[in-house]
Amino acid sequence: MNFLLILYSLLHLTLAHGLSRHPLRNRRQLSATDGIQSNGLQNNVTWDKYSYFVNGKRLMLFSGEVHPYRLPVASLYLDVFQKIKAMGMNAVSFYVFWGILEPKKGDISFEGFRDLQPFFDAAKKAGIYLIARPGPYINAETTAGGFPGWGTYTPGIWRTSNASYIDAYTGYIKAVGAKIAANEITKGGPVILVQSENEYSGWQAPYSEDYEYEKKLKQAFIDTGITVPITTNDAWPGGHYTSVDVYGYDSYPNGFDCSHPTTWKSDAVPESFWSAHQQYTPNIVNAVYEFQGGAFDGWGGSGYDTCAVLTGPEFERVFYKNEIAMSTTFLNLYMIFGGTNWGGIAHPGVYTSYDYGSAITEDRRLRDKYYELKLIANFLAVSPAYLTSRPQNVGSSQGAFTGNSALKTTQLLDVVGNKTAFYVIRPADASLNAVQQYKLTLPTSIGNVTIPTVGGTLALNGKDSKIHVVDYAAGSTTVVYSSAEIATWATIDGKDVIILYGSAGELHETAIKSSSTPSVVSGSGTIKTKSLSGGVLAIQYTTTGQTVVQVGNTLLYVLDRANAYQFWPVTPTSSLNTIHADTGSVIVKGGYLLRSASTISGTLALTGDLNSTTTFEIIAPTAAAQKVTFNGESLDVSKSSHGTITAKKTITLPDVKLPDLSSLTWKKADSLPEISPSYSDAAWTTANRASTVNPTTPTTPVILYAGEYGYHTGNILWRAHFTATGTETAFKVKVMGGSAFGYSVWLDSTFLGSWEGDSVRQDYEGTFKIATSPKKGSSHVITILQDHMGYEEDWIVGSETFKGPRGIISYSFVGSTGTKVDTWKVTGNLGGESYVDKTRGPLNEGGLFAERQGWHLPGFDDASWVPGKPTEGISSAGVAFYRTSFKLDVPSGVDYPIAFAVSNSTTNPHYRAQFYVNGYQFGKYVNSIGPQKVFPVPQGILNYQGDNTFAVSLWAEKATGAKLNSLKLQLNAKIESSMAKVASQPAPAWSQRKGAY
Ligand code: GAL
Repeated sequence: MNFLLILYSLLHLTLAHGLSRHPLRNRRQLSATDGIQSNGLQNNVTWDKYSYFVNGKRLMLFSGEVHPYRLPVASLYLDVFQKIKAMGMNAVSFYVFWGILEPKKGDISFEGFRDLQPFFDAAKKAGIYLIARPGPYINAETTAGGFPGWGTYTPGIWRTSNASYIDAYTGYIKAVGAKIAANEITKGGPVILVQSENEYSGWQAPYSEDYEYEKKLKQAFIDTGITVPITTNDAWPGGHYTSVDVYGYDSYPNGFDCSHPTTWKSDAVPESFWSAHQQYTPNIVNAVYEFQGGAFDGWGGSGYDTCAVLTGPEFERVFYKNEIAMSTTFLNLYMIFGGTNWGGIAHPGVYTSYDYGSAITEDRRLRDKYYELKLIANFLAVSPAYLTSRPQNVGSSQGAFTGNSALKTTQLLDVVGNKTAFYVIRPADASLNAVQQYKLTLPTSIGNVTIPTVGGTLALNGKDSKIHVVDYAAGSTTVVYSSAEIATWATIDGKDVIILYGSAGELHETAIKSSSTPSVVSGSGTIKTKSLSGGVLAIQYTTTGQTVVQVGNTLLYVLDRANAYQFWPVTPTSSLNTIHADTGSVIVKGGYLLRSASTISGTLALTGDLNSTTTFEIIAPTAAAQKVTFNGESLDVSKSSHGTITAKKTITLPDVKLPDLSSLTWKKADSLPEISPSYSDAAWTTANRASTVNPTTPTTPVILYAGEYGYHTGNILWRAHFTATGTETAFKVKVMGGSAFGYSVWLDSTFLGSWEGDSVRQDYEGTFKIATSPKKGSSHVITILQDHMGYEEDWIVGSETFKGPRGIISYSFVGSTGTKVDTWKVTGNLGGESYVDKTRGPLNEGGLFAERQGWHLPGFDDASWVPGKPTEGISSAGVAFYRTSFKLDVPSGVDYPIAFAVSNSTTNPHYRAQFYVNGYQFGKYVNSIGPQKVFPVPQGILNYQGDNTFAVSLWAEKATGAKLNSLKLQLNAKIESSMAKVASQPAPAWSQRKGAY
């Protein structure tokens, strides 16, 4: 700790001690260990036992996870960040995916969508702090958990301190570390924390926690110039890797079974989290670096809408408020925006969409859970007393303060300010659904009060949780208690405006210190009042619609949840310095999204997005809002009965006609020439390695794992040249490709059969009959086309699961033990690790003939192809490739997310299709497994104002062939938007590929 910091801490302690102590509560004094800590490398980001400080300011870091590589359009980052900011969060945590940056050892590239600088710049512009998580291991439902494919054949156990692994990651850490270091807050950038490793929490014997690795990796980051605190996320509060600066942990308490979205875990957030925090790291922030923000869904799953129910508004209320009950002052929700597993990003456990059921959908729309989260985030943003609170009754919360054992109530006291308290109430068993009646008996500055004092009882719906405040300061108003929750408050023109809410029709009571007579100034609600001791007035009401109550200089907005969702507190600037202003100086009701407010010469300029005509209610300083504009358009304003401004904005959503894909001209070509007698595989890689370090012991004479030969993604093709003995009656082969994979087998040009895949099996041994045994001494080729669903993750250290091969595990000729394969050939994407398309990156192309040739790219001349549509398909097993193009003309000023959609084919259901938009592979569809049928494609990949090339590969896995049942483009929403102009991502056109085979 340097001198300045010591001075700062002393000052802080003096101030804290100087505050008057609550007369009724006997709280402990602060001790010297309450001081501010730093890693000694910088002073911008510090911490104490309660919270982080950024630039000396204590703050709640409420963060959401976003992965830049899952949104390959740099000009959309700002939109996502602004949405996160508008919701009340102030930070974003992001993974960096080593595998796409260094697909070949030593060849590191940040080209195309891999450039991180636009992500840093957009965060800074939006006023969002960043938590960088560069791994090197990230997990993240990403192929090989983020490791590069070459890791599968590199000796040494990864995620340990062995020299070969350290050598493997060194170049990457240097390169990525330098980028992060250059964008740290210490240099005016947005990065405030850097996470080392990911959930370094589970080991397979004989491995155990490798402190040497932890030390070396942390040092490697520091050596790149990173000075902000290094953190890590234990998978649970288990005390692993505590040598980082600020340890923290993860939790996904409601699990990932989206097919039972209303079945909840009974223990929402175990109170043992707090005890564990006290046991392992009592002197630092209780930081949760990943908390469930949604759920991933796998092949054959129930779809992301169900995940959004599993983790919907009720879940947010119960589970996040439980985290709040544990004085969590760093909370990152994984994911806040999931994005897309385009190309080969996915590991086998997930499909193309990584929507995650998050608050912001894959196509950047706002779910209900966004609006619920807005209530929670904004409350925390205006409640500084929370930041120095401690739970007082961990382990004895059941029945506490209510006498109702079906409820748990945690008492959080602000042990520094010594005044305010928060009571977090929730069902003792989160899985139950019954409504609970209760009265709260709480200690307050006017003594113990049993609420409601005016009569009646409070109620908590099943799957709900509330934070009741006590002696809470909202400007100069003291809220002595409130059963209704506070969404936000602000002091505007000398008036304290407090936004209170509850579920529709609930009885609530709020008591404030006031000698004034309250009156309903707007709305149809009624109030009952009672004077309590000490000049305190209790006001009782039901939260129905919107009612505004004036008490002296305080305006209470009494709202039901649906109305509360519509409120946006906005700070008039979004620079990093004011990122966490305690109060928004303007509160706006209305609109789908409010991005910003600024005031210049009496004009309040609002920007945002609308999905319908909206009448805003604006609570703003009179002088600052003489006129109001929305997205630059001047609005007619009038005054409401209680002095606020109303302004109506009419929207017109321009009609956009999307092309009818079925009536376009489509061209078709065969993409499996490999089975024709004239095809030469001379240019393919010969699979001739005799040994491997792969833990899966080979059973074949040469290694038939595609990864050994540099092919790590997409479809893989194998060719076995053999001389027949004449007695072969079948070919038996076990292929491994990850769950939902499939494969097809041909003998010369004759189709032998397929394993069409299911959602479970990651490998499959099939026996494929050879109808007529080939002639003795004749030469033949077996061709196998297999799918590669990504590599497994490597969560358990030492398990080496990410090395699980993709390829042929065993094979034999039935009826002929003597048949030898003379040569095995293999291909995946053209160039393997020396991939061709540097812009779209190493995972965009697989090994289909069409992909190797670049047929999926714009500008390829398909004039010589025959006409044919994917909805007509093919009538035998094989692979066809289809191309078409269309123009889009979507005007600016709107956000119209577009997706292509297929429907399930029930006859001839066994096929796989991949979809390419301007050369980017944006969908992988397995008709018989599902579940995804709608594939959003972001603007910027789709050219909204001009030409688009659309291509489809269709792999029919059965002799009867296959076709797409339907294929269309659709608008997923129509929104008038002030989002920044979207620049199309570079989409290089086709050029002759040297040596393509
Ligand atoms: C966590 C992990 C993340 C992600 C998440 C589930 O355990 O750290 O990377 O895999 O689970 O989506």
